[in-house]
Amino acid sequence: MAMEIRHVGVLGSGIMGSGIAECAAEAGFEVTLRSRKQETADQMRVNVEKSLLRKIEKGRISEGGGREILSRIKVTTDIRALSHCDLVIESVVEDLAVKKHLVSEISELVADDAIIATNTSTLPVVEIAAAARHPHRVCGIHFFNPATVMKLVEVVQPITASDEVVRAAVDFAKSCSKDVVTVKDQAGFIVNALLFPYLNNSIKLYERGMGSMEEIDVAMKGGCGFPMGPFALLDLVGLDTSLAILEALYQEFGDPNFSPAPLLKRMVAAGYLGRKTKRGFFDYR
Ligand code: 3HC
Repeated sequence: MAMEIRHVGVLGSGIMGSGIAECAAEAGFEVTLRSRKQETADQMRVNVEKSLLRKIEKGRISEGGGREILSRIKVTTDIRALSHCDLVIESVVEDLAVKKHLVSEISELVADDAIIATNTSTLPVVEIAAAARHPHRVCGIHFFNPATVMKLVEVVQPITASDEVVRAAVDFAKSCSKDVVTVKDQAGFIVNALLFPYLNNSIKLYERGMGSMEEIDVAMKGGCGFPMGPFALLDLVGLDTSLAILEALYQEFGDPNFSPAPLLKRMVAAGYLGRKTKRGFFDYR
């Protein structure tokens, strides 16, 4: 029998967490969103509210529809409030130790047949799964930024996951109106394994004096039809996240294309993390 998902829990208060919560609530799921701090939990609800308001203004959804979607999202600081969830998606910082700890904790709280998914971009899903009480109930559900806009979800099947869990994750992503690809548990999956050498080499090209950041962005938008140039995209993704992704890719494959550009490391060391800190390769202040 296909497993039914009704309640979705989301762990993590970043842009991805609120985007995933909005996608799930719009698809009709009841969502409980957990952040460690009350202010960030409240801020996430405000972010979703703003995003829904934009959709109302554009006539994509009715005012009543927007209210209904919002009413399906509860925010909390208490992880135990997610114990009734059929699916919990963790979307916390890209740090293996943090993710393992959290997945272990949540797996003690949810029912035996609940699914736990990680939104990791590059970390080994199998290691995160191994930290759970029931590793076969853990897979990857990888949304893209901005989650409500980007059409794709990668569902990741670690060698530990059951086919039933992967099928349920695919069905969940499809019901969020996403195109779904099922991918192997290798660093970067499909998209980031191809995207990040390009982003990294863009920084290295700039370091070699091939052009300004603006010029490289203009070149890749105009020359390849990309909606954003590499520097604008790095700022959107977050430079700390980008560095973590490249380090994980480099560790897995040892390919010099994944070896993080020196400037990226220095930007992160300086705390210039992109749009979220209002300063990255470009200035957003
Ligand atoms: N959050 C929510 N919605 C947003 C948004 C955001 N941050 N930015 C833009 N939007 C919405 C707008 O409201 C608009 O919605 P509408 O179509 O309903 O009117 C739509 O997106 C288009 O926005 P705009 O017209 O204002 O701006 P653009 O046409 O420039 O689009 C963009 C913005 C969608 C971000 C576009 O530039 C784009 O697709 N960029 C590429 C993004 C990308 O490559 N993401 C993948 C990153 S890699 C990743 O996520 C993997 C991870 O593991 C690191």
